[in-house]
Amino acid sequence: MREGCHHAAAMAAAQQLSHVYPLGARLDGRGRLQIGGCDALELAREFGTPAYVVDEDDLRARARAFVSAFAARTDDFQVHFASKAFACTAVARVLAQEGLGCDVAGGGELTMALKAGFAPGEIELHGNAKTPDELRLALDAGVGTIVVDNLDEVARVTGLLEERGATQRVQLRIAPGVSPDTHPSISTGGPNTKFGLNLADAERALERLAASPWVDVEGLHFHIGSQIMELAPFRAALERVTAALGTDFSAWNLGGGLGVVYGPDDAPPSIEDYAAGKVAMVRELCGPGKRVVDEPGRALTANSTVTLYTVQSVKRNVATWVGVDGGMSDNLRPMLYGAHCEVEVADRFGGETPCIVTGKHCESGDVLVRDALLADPRPGDVLVTPATGAYGFSMANTYNGQPRPPVVIVSGGDARLVVRRERYEELLSRDV
Ligand code: LLP
Repeated sequence: MREGCHHAAAMAAAQQLSHVYPLGARLDGRGRLQIGGCDALELAREFGTPAYVVDEDDLRARARAFVSAFAARTDDFQVHFASKAFACTAVARVLAQEGLGCDVAGGGELTMALKAGFAPGEIELHGNAKTPDELRLALDAGVGTIVVDNLDEVARVTGLLEERGATQRVQLRIAPGVSPDTHPSISTGGPNTKFGLNLADAERALERLAASPWVDVEGLHFHIGSQIMELAPFRAALERVTAALGTDFSAWNLGGGLGVVYGPDDAPPSIEDYAAGKVAMVRELCGPGKRVVDEPGRALTANSTVTLYTVQSVKRNVATWVGVDGGMSDNLRPMLYGAHCEVEVADRFGGETPCIVTGKHCESGDVLVRDALLADPRPGDVLVTPATGAYGFSMANTYNGQPRPPVVIVSGGDARLVVRRERYEELLSRDV
């Protein structure tokens, strides 16, 4: 019954709000934003602003879409949540409940993933500069896979395992020399990258790993970048890797990277096409019976979440400047990558006043949206920016002594606080 209601809500949303918003978001009869059955203005009142609001049903729907898209095409696959995208325990717990594994980029994410309930064997550790402590933490926890990134690490991992007399599954991260068309800061697969081994070094790494009785090299890994809008670069990368290193590996991890919709110009492949494409390319280029591992981050979380802000000031000089109570402390993407962000007044969508929506931080670059059109914004208005579920919370910081925002999960008309707002005293809590 409840499922049915949500489906109906999702259908209504498709008509009323763009795909940038969570599946269950809609405007009510008064034109007020509802998300997960909760009123955005009431959420702002109850939890304060800025706040991240996560639509749980949206998150689950995307996780299920990934799993069913792979399951429809292969029996042997793993979908690992790239936890860096939204390294929040409660969000990760939802994805663990959906049966996903988890990819962690260090000791902190590993600690979070264990707390979220991922089975250690379903966790995979990444990183181009893992410390011995992080490797020990991972071995103590019994993580399923360590993705070995460089020759120094080959020595370090085999040494640690020998010391312990323990065996470990590993994958080898390859830099395939393919650069997808995305922002340079989130392109990782080119020849001159800090991630992974080039093809020549990969051969040496494989020889050294083969010489150690403590490692089981289950497969190769590459991740060519993020916010990728076409499938061709994945194939190009896999062609280069198989041409150089052969196909004699049981697991093929093509990383994450599926792009999402941030605005009207974005048209990423669907989750279904993406999964179908990756399974097909592994089958064609590596042969049948191989495990396909995927590591989506952004495509699971970005559109599940909106951020609510309150307008504090409206200034008119050359332009109209709308100042909100957050900014580069809770969403660095516009500043770091020139990322497009949409914005609306939460109870008056579709306005026509051109304005610049800025954060409250002490630098001119702290602009969330340069080309906003808002409905006559006034101090006290609640603004909403959609698609902030990936790399917003995770990259939040306390610049200018700004406490980090809470995370609220909404579903079926209920809202639950899963991370509370940081307190001023906590900003000083590490003083010694
Ligand atoms: N696997 C590995 C090894 C990765 O490094 C990443 C992301 C992923 C998977 C997940 O990629 P996704 O599916 O989310 O594209 N802060 C940047 C994004 C950095 C991505 C880092 N690696 C941003 O906000 O755009």
